[in-house]
Amino acid sequence: MNFVSELENVATKDLRELESCVEDAIKEDSFIYEACAPLINGGKRLRPVLFLLCAGSTGTCPIKSALPLAVAIELIHTASLVHDDILDNAKKRRRVETTNAKYGSQVAVLVGDYLFAKAFQIVAEGNYGREVSETLSKLVKNLCVGEISQDRNLFKIPEMSEYYERINLKTAVFLATCCRLGGIIAGMDKKEIDDLTAYGNGLGLAFQIIDDVLDFFGDEKVTGKALGGDLKSGVITMPVIRALSVSDESEVLRDIVTRRDISDSDVMDAIEIIRNTDAVEYCKMRADGHVDSARVNLPFLMKTSTGLALEQIADFVVDRTW
Ligand code: FPP
Ligand code: MG
Repeated sequence: MNFVSELENVATKDLRELESCVEDAIKEDSFIYEACAPLINGGKRLRPVLFLLCAGSTGTCPIKSALPLAVAIELIHTASLVHDDILDNAKKRRRVETTNAKYGSQVAVLVGDYLFAKAFQIVAEGNYGREVSETLSKLVKNLCVGEISQDRNLFKIPEMSEYYERINLKTAVFLATCCRLGGIIAGMDKKEIDDLTAYGNGLGLAFQIIDDVLDFFGDEKVTGKALGGDLKSGVITMPVIRALSVSDESEVLRDIVTRRDISDSDVMDAIEIIRNTDAVEYCKMRADGHVDSARVNLPFLMKTSTGLALEQIADFVVDRTW
């Protein structure tokens, strides 16, 4: 299941090439391949595709030059998920057992480190220059700061502004960076690069809000991960924050989400309380708002194949079920 294959205006040949380059990048070591291939195969490829679309928009950057950086982006994303699953003690990701569940956390730390190092090896070999390396380094620092702040505040109810700060660092900055890097290597001017970055940022906020809704109301077979994972790991997200402010049962919900040993039946109770409020509509409304603000940055790509694909991605992000 891969949403990008349904995107019009994205060359299927480029996508096939991306898949084979990602696979090649993890083949050097047989254990790494065994541990990573199932996980890597299940990805949506949203980040590298955003990058490739933006990189290809001016027609000046051949796909061959952009592909290694697209692969590096996917490897950094996968490395961050391998580490995230350790932090969240998650058992399932992309419909397969997580690296920590299968091999233990010690090995999973090293698998994440390997992927991360491989990504930077590919970037170094690609000679993309200082701006690209600096942009990627800043991205990874932001991811870490976002995750550290989340980890230091588990089981605490955040203000909406704190929630936004966190989803900005852990997701929106990543999508924004993919678009930005595409603009940079396509040789766009500063205003266009900033517009693409703003598009990616809005898209990323919407993406994470929908992710947080799916964590409670998704279909496990479709999302490929267990329901209630955020709650059990102490990560309090927008559906809970909204429900706490409007529910008649907010005290019960508060008691569940701040408890350190949340059981499956607590998760079910919390889901029921959230379901009885307007929290899901509220989150969708917020996500729609971010996607609308994201689209405002695209007029300079109007009627181009990149512009149309970025519009389609915006639709996917809010309507997705996985
Ligand atoms: C998933 O969030 C996790 C992230 C978006 C970022 C994880 C980043 C790190 C662990 C920092 C380290 C980075 C590197 C490159 C080594 P989530 O838990 O809300 O989503 P999920 O439900 O998919 O797990
Ligand atoms: Mg997680």
